[in-house]
Amino acid sequence: MEPQEQGLFRQQHDIVERYHPSESVVVYPGDCLDLLREIPDESLQLVVTSPPYNIGKEYEDRLDLDDYLGQQARVIAESVRALSPRGSICWQVGNYVDRGAIVPLDAILYPIFANLGLRMRNRIIWHFGHGLHCSRRFSGRHETIMWFTKTDDYVFDLDAVRVPQKYPGKKHFKGPKAGQYSGNPLGKNPGDVWAIPNVKSNHVEKTEHPCQFPVELVERLVLSLTNKGDWVLDPFLGTGSTIIAAIRHGRRGVGAEIVPKYVDLSRQRIEQEMLGTLRTRPMNRPIYDPVTAGNSLTASPWPRNPEQSALFEHTKDYDTEPTDEDR
Ligand SMILES: C[S@@+](CC[C@H](N)C(=O)[O-])C[C@H]1O[C@@H](n2cnc3c(N)ncnc32)[C@H](O)[C@@H]1O
Repeated sequence: MEPQEQGLFRQQHDIVERYHPSESVVVYPGDCLDLLREIPDESLQLVVTSPPYNIGKEYEDRLDLDDYLGQQARVIAESVRALSPRGSICWQVGNYVDRGAIVPLDAILYPIFANLGLRMRNRIIWHFGHGLHCSRRFSGRHETIMWFTKTDDYVFDLDAVRVPQKYPGKKHFKGPKAGQYSGNPLGKNPGDVWAIPNVKSNHVEKTEHPCQFPVELVERLVLSLTNKGDWVLDPFLGTGSTIIAAIRHGRRGVGAEIVPKYVDLSRQRIEQEMLGTLRTRPMNRPIYDPVTAGNSLTASPWPRNPEQSALFEHTKDYDTEPTDEDR
């Protein structure tokens, strides 16, 4: 199917460095607070970002937690000032880890948003299958997206992001609607637990950046929380994923990145997006299941340990009849 038929936009834009309302793509090479100061009040429809987690990645100096929160608070306050009254902020975070003890960043950042009068609409669990294997705690396989709105009158287009029902052929079996299909023909609400692969070594979007988020994650937010032509900001742009998702759907994108090599990388990826050559994982592609795919490595070379629970690692759908192994 042609990109245009899928509702995708392959327009060519100049990538400029300074924000101006008449532009469409802005990659600011520098500190996000300097960029934000150039953006007028109430001009952004969506701010979506994955900020540094203060865990000592190559692009961050590990700060005292209070200093980190102070830095985040300044970026959040400026983002709120620049946000339109019908706009949304989505802050995607994981854990800060201190000598093996975790601090969930959403819990400690939440008061900053609440004190600015923002209203939380969802705390979305982003679930993924890959990451570090922990030996002294359960391995982390989720992060969160805190979605806030500035007011109660906010843009939310649920129909743009509906997903297929589990049982689309299901009908009401009694009452006045008996015999009619019970589900919405456009699909169901995707819910607040999103299973989307993270960008690790085998992911088609992987670059040299240590922690990209997948473009499909941002696409869902762009489609549901903005209209065509709206501005989408990512203050911590990294490899440009947010701008890519925005322009792909006819929105405008602006972001800041402080590390020059990532500025270059984001510009390259945005250019590839405009040319239609950027490879990304499509939205709503089912999660790869090695068992149903017949991957030979899923056959265990060692005898099954009867003590080991089969339930939690079982990938089959629990709504189907249990197999002998499930019982
Ligand atoms: C978690 S990464 C974001 C990755 C991004 N979501 C992506 O998909 O590529 C955070 C990024 O923020 C950048 N950064 C850190 N402090 C910054 C600042 N004050 N202003 C702008 N960028 C900053 C880092 O260099 C890093 O690339």
